[in-house]
Amino acid sequence: MARALITGGAGFIGSSFVRHLLRRRTGLSVVVLDKLTYAGNPDNLREFEGDPRYRFVRGDIADAATVDALFSEGLDLVFNFAAESHVDRSIHAPDAFLRTDVYGAYTLLEAARRRPVGRFIQISTDEVYGSVASGACSEDSPLRPSSPYAASKAAADGLVHAYWVTYGVPAIVTRATNNYGPRQYPEKIIPLFVTNALDGLPLPLYGDGQNVRDWLHVEDHCAALLCVAEGGEVGGIYNLGGGNERANVDVARRILAALGLPRSLIRPVADRPGHDRRYALDCARARDLGWRPRVSFEAGLEATIAWYRDNRAWWEPLKSGAAAAYFRRQYGASFMAGPSAPPHRAASGSRRPRRRPSPRRPLAG
Ligand code: NAD
Ligand code: TYD
Repeated sequence: MARALITGGAGFIGSSFVRHLLRRRTGLSVVVLDKLTYAGNPDNLREFEGDPRYRFVRGDIADAATVDALFSEGLDLVFNFAAESHVDRSIHAPDAFLRTDVYGAYTLLEAARRRPVGRFIQISTDEVYGSVASGACSEDSPLRPSSPYAASKAAADGLVHAYWVTYGVPAIVTRATNNYGPRQYPEKIIPLFVTNALDGLPLPLYGDGQNVRDWLHVEDHCAALLCVAEGGEVGGIYNLGGGNERANVDVARRILAALGLPRSLIRPVADRPGHDRRYALDCARARDLGWRPRVSFEAGLEATIAWYRDNRAWWEPLKSGAAAAYFRRQYGASFMAGPSAPPHRAASGSRRPRRRPSPRRPLAG
């Protein structure tokens, strides 16, 4: 039976990919290697416990002994999702990003150099190109990462290329645009804004809200990764975009409209340092492999909002208790649920109790 290693499989995209792979490739077994950082959630993989095709190993991709032991078992496919993935955290504390995103990728590549693998897929990001004033980046565009996160991913992309050219490690890099969907940690804009809205809390919009991201549903991303792993050219790079460029303020408004909440919940806050204005990708190469994104942003966002509305038990602990420290530092108490949070102030300045939309409230279009 063919074997796949999925690092970072307890995170948002990795766990979706485990699900995608086990359903669509029944002749494949999967080992997940995950350190279970704040972003790793064993609940994301609970449904596979007891499946003979699935195994979970808790460990660090930067730990050579752990990695070598897994590679020595023989691997047909390696998908490296493991990363520190949040730009705002990278601005506050870059060191973990260098350790995992760069040194961790290096550790995996070293193992792949010594123990042959069929394909090594490095999951990268459109952020390595930096801000795109007009047009779209091709895979040959220069890399101009703006944040420590993007720089660490760009460094890993460089290592992957070097290990292909120098040692023949059969590696491919994919660069996807912003993902959204179920089980995304509620620090990223869509789950943060949806969960804040569900709690009647303000949505902290950076700067003028006109920064543009291209939204890719996580299921479309997973389909692309399988397509690239099976049909992509070794040594190649593949851009993966959703074709859904939206300004952040429009995303915020759509979320509020879907939940029947007022736009006054949008709260402009200080901009993120080094904030990239726009990302945009030319994805002709991936389309030549037969891949197309299928999920429309409107339908995907509505389904995502419904998922967070119906799965409060999944996300509530991620914004409270010890996890709350990050949100308090990043946004302050007025953006948080709980006894310390002041009641929501409407745009008029009048004091109103926090609104908590009914879990059964139908989603507006
Ligand atoms: P995530 O933060 O939800 O999950 C990351 C996972 O990696 C977690 O399970 C965490 O426990 C694990 N991890 C972190 N450090 C580790 C280490 N040292 N060893 C082993 N496991 C470790 O991230 P995500 O949003 O699912 O992103 C997955 C990958 O996709 C990342 O490489 C990211 O750069 C890339 N990507 C993400 C997006 C996006 O919009 N989320 C877009 C393009 C590319
Ligand atoms: P984010 O979800 O952090 O993804 P990335 O930085 O990887 O693109 O941010 C997406 C966009 O949303 C980005 O332009 C920054 C903006 N944003 C806010 O306006 N407020 C927030 O609280 C967050 C987290 C992001």
